[in-house]
Amino acid sequence: MKILFFSGTGNSYATAKLIAGREGMLFDMASSVIEKVKDEYVGIVLPCYCNDIPQKAREFLQKVQIESDYIFAIVTCGLSAGNSFITINNILKEKGLQLSYAKKLVLPDSCIVFATKTEKAKSLLASHQERVNEINSDLSEKIKTPMPKDKKTPTMYTKLLWRLFKGFYKLDDKKTNGRCISCGKCLEYCPVKNIIMQDKKIIFGDSCENCFACIQRCDKMAIQFGKIQVSNATRYYHPIISED
Ligand SMILES: Cc1cc2nc3c(=O)[nH]c(=O)nc-3n(C[C@H](O)[C@H](O)[C@H](O)COP(=O)(O)O)c2cc1C
Ligand code: SF4
Ligand code: SF4
Repeated sequence: MKILFFSGTGNSYATAKLIAGREGMLFDMASSVIEKVKDEYVGIVLPCYCNDIPQKAREFLQKVQIESDYIFAIVTCGLSAGNSFITINNILKEKGLQLSYAKKLVLPDSCIVFATKTEKAKSLLASHQERVNEINSDLSEKIKTPMPKDKKTPTMYTKLLWRLFKGFYKLDDKKTNGRCISCGKCLEYCPVKNIIMQDKKIIFGDSCENCFACIQRCDKMAIQFGKIQVSNATRYYHPIISED
């Protein structure tokens, strides 16, 4: 089994890892340079960001050659996978392929303004392995699913919604506050390497996926995107990434 994954705060990475087990191989769509992936099972595991898939994953999937009779996609999300499966399937269709199996997996919401309440987050994490076991059982029988019923939101509407969200919270105004100790950890946390440090100052580039991994994982809670700043009550990342 080969799994192509993208992850900011670890939900999709943890899911990919649990599905792959010991035998499967993981490829990070944010950093892998592979051109071709061939296996009996090829999986795509990624988060839904504002109703659709991350741009980096889209670009990777458009470029990579896939050879498999059974392609599955798992979209992790706080509520709904939005257009993610439709986008993935459309990219595959252009290669003469299609999804055999598609399932969304609800996990704690990494979007700070919609943070999942603590008790609910705990219960979602507690049942994570069990829900992945169900997926693994389906995969072992090569079960085929119809395309998920998540309502297709028109792309224009999704783009407009994202622009409004970004504008309202001023997401492009990325900065660190006085708590930053220049430890450089956020440079590692960023899946797309959009952060650099110059003269002990953190600088954000232009290829941000707004995955919120840097804000969520900075121990000093020193990163702020416009009006968005994490607090102890809203902070979240999947526990598996601190174990790794
Ligand atoms: C900027 C942003 C936008 C998001 N948009 C959605 C969304 O439209 N629908 C949804 O159900 N969850 C949304 N989420 C929640 C994530 O899809 C969810 O927490 C996912 O499991 C995170 O995966 P990751 O930890 O692998 O990055 C969003 C999260 C972020 C950071
Ligand atoms: S923002 Fe946080 S993680 Fe990044 S260098 Fe500063 S203290 Fe470290
Ligand atoms: S800069 Fe922060 S929010 Fe943007 S992609 Fe990197 S980790 Fe994610």
